Amino acid sequence: MKYGYFDDTCREYVITKPDTPEPWANYLGSPEYGAIISNQAGGYSFVRSGANGRLLRYRFNSVPADQAGRYIYVRDRESGDYWSGSWQPVGKPLDLYRSECRHGLSYTVISSSYSGISTETLYLVPLGKTYEVWRLKIRNEGGRKRAVSVFGCAEFTNDGNYEQDAVNLQYTQFITRTCFHRNRILQLHNECCRRNADGSNGEERFFGLAGAPVSSWCGDREEFVGPYRSYANPIAVERGDCGNVPNYGGNSAGVLQADLDLEPGEERQLCFVLGAHPDAEADKILSEYEDPRCIETQWEELKDFWEEKLCRFSVHTPDENFNHMVNTWNAYQCFITFIWSRAASFTYCGLRNGLGFRDTVQDIQGILHLVPEMAFERIRLMFSGQTSCGAGLPLIGFHHEPGHVKLPGEPGYDYDPYRADDALWLFPTVAQYIGESGNIRFLDEVIPFADHGEADVYEHLRRAVRFSLEHGGAHGLPVGLYADWNDCLRMGEQGESVFVAFQLYQAMRILLDFARIRKDGDTVSELEEQSRKLRKTLNDVCWQGDRYLRGIRESGEKVGSRDDPEANLWLNPQSWSVISGCADEERARAALETVHQRLNTEYGAVIMDPPYREHAFDGARMRLFLPSVKENGSVFSQAQGWLILAESLMGHGNRAYEYYRECSPAEQNDRAEIRRLEPYVHGQFVEGPQSPHEGRAHVHWLTGTASTVMVACVRGILGLRPTAEGIQIQPAVPSDWKEFTIDKFYRGKRLHITVKNPNGAQGGPVRIVLNGETLPDSLVPFGQLENENELVVTMPGADPAQ
Ligand code: GLC
Repeated sequence: MKYGYFDDTCREYVITKPDTPEPWANYLGSPEYGAIISNQAGGYSFVRSGANGRLLRYRFNSVPADQAGRYIYVRDRESGDYWSGSWQPVGKPLDLYRSECRHGLSYTVISSSYSGISTETLYLVPLGKTYEVWRLKIRNEGGRKRAVSVFGCAEFTNDGNYEQDAVNLQYTQFITRTCFHRNRILQLHNECCRRNADGSNGEERFFGLAGAPVSSWCGDREEFVGPYRSYANPIAVERGDCGNVPNYGGNSAGVLQADLDLEPGEERQLCFVLGAHPDAEADKILSEYEDPRCIETQWEELKDFWEEKLCRFSVHTPDENFNHMVNTWNAYQCFITFIWSRAASFTYCGLRNGLGFRDTVQDIQGILHLVPEMAFERIRLMFSGQTSCGAGLPLIGFHHEPGHVKLPGEPGYDYDPYRADDALWLFPTVAQYIGESGNIRFLDEVIPFADHGEADVYEHLRRAVRFSLEHGGAHGLPVGLYADWNDCLRMGEQGESVFVAFQLYQAMRILLDFARIRKDGDTVSELEEQSRKLRKTLNDVCWQGDRYLRGIRESGEKVGSRDDPEANLWLNPQSWSVISGCADEERARAALETVHQRLNTEYGAVIMDPPYREHAFDGARMRLFLPSVKENGSVFSQAQGWLILAESLMGHGNRAYEYYRECSPAEQNDRAEIRRLEPYVHGQFVEGPQSPHEGRAHVHWLTGTASTVMVACVRGILGLRPTAEGIQIQPAVPSDWKEFTIDKFYRGKRLHITVKNPNGAQGGPVRIVLNGETLPDSLVPFGQLENENELVVTMPGADPAQ
């Protein structure tokens, strides 16, 4: 079933059928003032921390779902009938009530039309501001005069800490009160012990109205909703009068009512504004919105902000869904993961007090092809989270102070021990950053270590390799430590991880390139020797004829071996044998073929198979999950990105594209009842074939899938691989793509690339003509670029093996 469509002209996803299988969300603002909003206007807001700065209350995982929210009610003062500007919470019958939700880039517009009245509510956080605006336009569509009341409603938390707010009621119900002042409700916290700079008392939040006088107000949730009622039928709305009641303890709310008389065809505009500011500031903020142009200008600014980022890369392929995702939605999701990390969603409550190392270093890759300069600071931050022994700290705290951080094992350290993979993610990220930016001098930049000392980036990278080499097991492969990429896989102190071994091989190859550029002969020979040895071990010890193992436990027992009754084939070692460049052509083909035969499903390839039921070892913590769910054999979507990339690197465009389509949210737009998650957003995983809900996706928005699939599309399928010298172009596309174009902004130059595929190839060596001149190979040297460039890339003759 289909609930909406992509509107490319304005980069919006438009929900036309409001009863979506799940609340479909969007992000507003930034973590300074963040807001999550669903197509039903459900969601919450926070200042700086989703866990500790919560402003609006949201009941996770509750019935009814997706409440509370940013509700606007409309009441007909003649008939007494009432409804909401979003379909929920009132939920009028859908044959009488029309609704549309347009999720755009950091704004959402929800419109309704019912009984001759139409509304349009724009929700946004203006750029750089720490408050949110709900701009309502209400219009009388009929031929007679209408008398209506409008109610804007916000449910405040009593305590910024969402857990305290939810459960510590003997405290939090007695610390706030609300009062009304001119055009706003103020909520005051711990009034008697906080004095503000302006002489007022208490931490203040406000909910105000501009554009019409307040006819009545309510500051108390229970007074507004009424006993044994809900947001579907609040007593104050039913009555048509908020009663002008403040609250004192209990649950505070902000409800403001405006009574309007609308002539036929008349439209009025109101702005509700919500934030955590003292009264005097609230007054100033609200007065700006008395001018209706203010919000229009801010909306334009927001659109320009995003357009400026997204216009730097756009593709026009024969596949519209591919275009929607790569040009807009996957790109936007990459920014959201980059900016918000795993902070707050409808799944994450904001509790993680920092940036996960591997997640963040991976997230960075998703935006590098668009704005490498924006990624720069974050990359440096992550290097300062590397310890002098070369490992990455599993979590970089929000108040990270390089040079002073306690390390795993030291007294005062209060997070997980080292993982085997964290620092190794830096290699592809740095290589891609240098390729996009050309900033090879970054390798010389001196950055402090998390614990003590400092070194240039090149030395940081050398230490990361050394850390993995020093932590080797019986076969000389890196040990798994607390976990590798797979959080659920504990190989033990001496158990070895084949995935990390492939990552290490990739890291060595990247470092070798850097060492050659720096003419560091000693490191070159050392790395040549070490990488040759590692490759040999991986191929001698871990290859089983049609697959690579996943690991070797301390006891010597193999994980992912073909004779295992369960989990005898794992996806990541197969794709990474190719990505790392470790497998030869024949093994790479065989490993990928095994994956296709054994792991592929309609919704992507599962992470391993069969899932654990009876035969899991102690360190296989995924057995905690149901079979075909999460790390226990689901389609763990991030891994699908690596599979697409691996097939692309092999030149298997048809396979790469097949895997892409299986996991592309847009591709399932008309099967939304199965996938359930937003059709414009990647999720963390999709339930596999042993679940009765095969195809159902989970954990929306904040997931590494976004960046991994983006990289797979840009570097893999489209084949654009920037290096220090220029861009390598090597597309691997479905053979029926006869022609497509790519517009790319590259180090200040514009590239207009036309890829021609007259013979229906799916990969292979290309011929490139740059501004009329044929290049000798697939590298477009940066030095040969003009400001504006026309490139024609011709793919080879058809591959007879297709
Ligand atoms: C989650 C974690 C990520 C981990 C993955 C696999 O997505 O955020 O760090 O690599 O699960 O376990």
